[in-house]
Amino acid sequence: MRIISIALTLLVLASCDSGEPVTETPYKPTTEMINLMNWILDPAADVIWGNSGWEMTELGEQELFPETDEEWQNLVNASAMIAESGNLLMMPGRENGADGRGEDWIAYSQAIVDTGNKLLEASQAKDKQAIFDIGGQLYRVCVACHQRYAYPDEQ
Ligand code: HEC
Repeated sequence: MRIISIALTLLVLASCDSGEPVTETPYKPTTEMINLMNWILDPAADVIWGNSGWEMTELGEQELFPETDEEWQNLVNASAMIAESGNLLMMPGRENGADGRGEDWIAYSQAIVDTGNKLLEASQAKDKQAIFDIGGQLYRVCVACHQRYAYPDEQ
């Protein structure tokens, strides 16, 4: 039975394929805005901020940047997540997302995509100074959107 129903499903899917380009994408936003922040964008940003820069310790100046290939790859992964998170912020249909917000919501989201892409390039190049500087720019984008849309009274 199982095999027959799989075969039937494939047949139905095959007959649906008219060869026409898809005009509407059936997005299915899954996280509310607060969880997109807490579970996706914030952890990715923390990987960047926690693994870039220099700090003074008893042993002198210590680098926070990755050392192994695996650690560098983590930075690349986090950068890609940040860039794509900007697209998630703009996705239609997300609760508390772009729908009904001002145009600047899109501008802030695009700034996340652009900053994420720059981080991606810099971490692939292992360009420490660039990662540090762009990490700072990223922080300013977060704060700007939060001032406008998340915690307007606090800042
Ligand atoms: C396009 C706008 C926008 C951008 C850009 C943005 N945020 Fe947010 N963020 C929000 C909104 C809106 C909320 C409040 C969500 C809610 O309460 O429903 C929020 C909430 C948060 C929270 C939840 C705080 C809490 O109370 O639990 C965290 C953490 C967070 N953002 C991190 C970030 C970080 C890190 C960045 C940048 C890398 C960022 N956000 C960029 C709109 C944005």
